[in-house]
Amino acid sequence: MEESSAVEVEPAPGTGHERAHGGAPWWRGASIYQVYLRSFADGNGDGVGDIAGLRSHLEYLAALGVDALWINPWYRSPMADGGYDVADYRDIDPLFGTLADAEDLIAACHEHGLRVIADIVPNHTSDQHEWFKAALASPPGSRERARFWFRPGRGAHGELPPNDWRSRFGGQAWTRVKEADGSPGEWYLHLFTPEQPDLNWENPEVVAEFDAILRFWLDRGIDGFRIDVAHGLAKDPALPDLGARADDSEKFGRPDTLGHPHWDRDAVHDIFQHWRRVADEYPGDRMFVAEAWVTGLDRLALYVRSNELQTAFNFEFLMAPWRAPELRGVIDDTMRTLGAVGAPATWVLSNHDVPRHLTRYAAADGGGGRWRGEPLTGPEDLALGLRRARAAALLTLALPGGVYIYQGDELGLWEVEDIPADRMQDPTFANTGRTRDGSRVPLPWSGDAPPFGFSPADATAEPWLPQPAAWRDITAARQQGDPTSTLELYRMALRIRHGNPALGDGTLVWDDAPADVLSFTREPGFRCVVNLSAAPVALPVGEELLVASAPLTADGELESDAAAWLATKLPARE
Ligand code: NOJ
Repeated sequence: MEESSAVEVEPAPGTGHERAHGGAPWWRGASIYQVYLRSFADGNGDGVGDIAGLRSHLEYLAALGVDALWINPWYRSPMADGGYDVADYRDIDPLFGTLADAEDLIAACHEHGLRVIADIVPNHTSDQHEWFKAALASPPGSRERARFWFRPGRGAHGELPPNDWRSRFGGQAWTRVKEADGSPGEWYLHLFTPEQPDLNWENPEVVAEFDAILRFWLDRGIDGFRIDVAHGLAKDPALPDLGARADDSEKFGRPDTLGHPHWDRDAVHDIFQHWRRVADEYPGDRMFVAEAWVTGLDRLALYVRSNELQTAFNFEFLMAPWRAPELRGVIDDTMRTLGAVGAPATWVLSNHDVPRHLTRYAAADGGGGRWRGEPLTGPEDLALGLRRARAAALLTLALPGGVYIYQGDELGLWEVEDIPADRMQDPTFANTGRTRDGSRVPLPWSGDAPPFGFSPADATAEPWLPQPAAWRDITAARQQGDPTSTLELYRMALRIRHGNPALGDGTLVWDDAPADVLSFTREPGFRCVVNLSAAPVALPVGEELLVASAPLTADGELESDAAAWLATKLPARE
């Protein structure tokens, strides 16, 4: 592999959080915007979002008021799984631009006060990665095959897979290869698509290669990494059968990972403690955020111990329905469990893998199982979902810790549930009939018809997924400057969050409140009230309303499914 050349990088910017919290690391209280690059903005008119498109919207992101961007994988890839099948970790896919474009983008983000988090994919490569091509061309037992999980098959002629593990995307987790002489040969492991062979993290070559990849991007000024499938890197080398647990593997959502032979094994922590040491060699509080779907917050806390990763997505919160007892329970468990290891919480409502929360919350019962693709239990009420999504925005932006905003959350986008089957792109669709495409539809920026400014006027191709005509009413341009819009709600809340030392990192104290009302105080002088009950509730007397997700009633009460931020101590007036 070619050595990375260190380049001059601009230092990452300081955030409001650092100013407000006496120099605490920025990631403890950052608001981070997830850029699903292929759906953000298309600069060259081929119907797919790219770096040029992102670059042209940095003003929008800076004005939104976020501290950092997390950009989904942009590396060279055959795109069998939207770029999570990486052929070269040190280059940018031509669909998105060039390495020079990425370097310019990082510098431009820093100039706009935005840090940049890259997405690192260590569990698997692409089958087009040089290492995997070399493994296929090499014999069983070779050094080239030892970087992956190659095994002989079972059965008299090796015709059965080595064990009963299942792919997360449906079907068996093993594919048989042809040896050089054309005969059926060994099998290789892929916990995702067959185009995503799993790396063998027992192999020191794999460890060294990822050290070099991390350094390649750290040298280019990357401020952090989101770690894809962080809970999957360590496998039980005995590769034992799952037996009765095999069925669980394909369940959309999270299988039970306790005591599992390939999920959340303790050996992953050695890898990440080592990664922490690598990142700590660099100036400027570089950070990691783990994508770790694990059973129980106590298992998640292990990833964010003080000598390991700084943060991990809190999927327990994402999975909770819009109901007060469940939300309060998750918030308390999170604060207690992550607080015990000194880590901040990281709140997330949506991402490119789950149905958008506006649609999940559009079920009358708060949408319990919808995050894992379960069907609706009653009619879908998108107006209700929007009210709740706006309230959820104020809730998450007020909670102690960091927060992720998935692109389009700030526009009030819903899950697109009527994409025609012949337009589906997600590889899970063919095997399982489930799709993640509904949360990945290109953003509506402006105009009255698709592509809604996603692509330039002279584009040669349609957006890679079809946009709903109804998005004409919620384009960014339409919402900008309208104080009742979801975009302006986010901008206002992020502006307040930046300037208010009570917000971001810290703690909360619950207030006494009526049933199904979440009310908490954060010092100095801040209160958040979220009304999940069916009737309006009174707000505390004598406090100043900073922002609300819905107009108050004529009596000044907070509507059902609405949230308000209050200043508890009015500043002394002249
Ligand atoms: C999690 C990513 O978020 C998802 O999009 C991808 O398909 C899998 N990991 C496999 O890399």
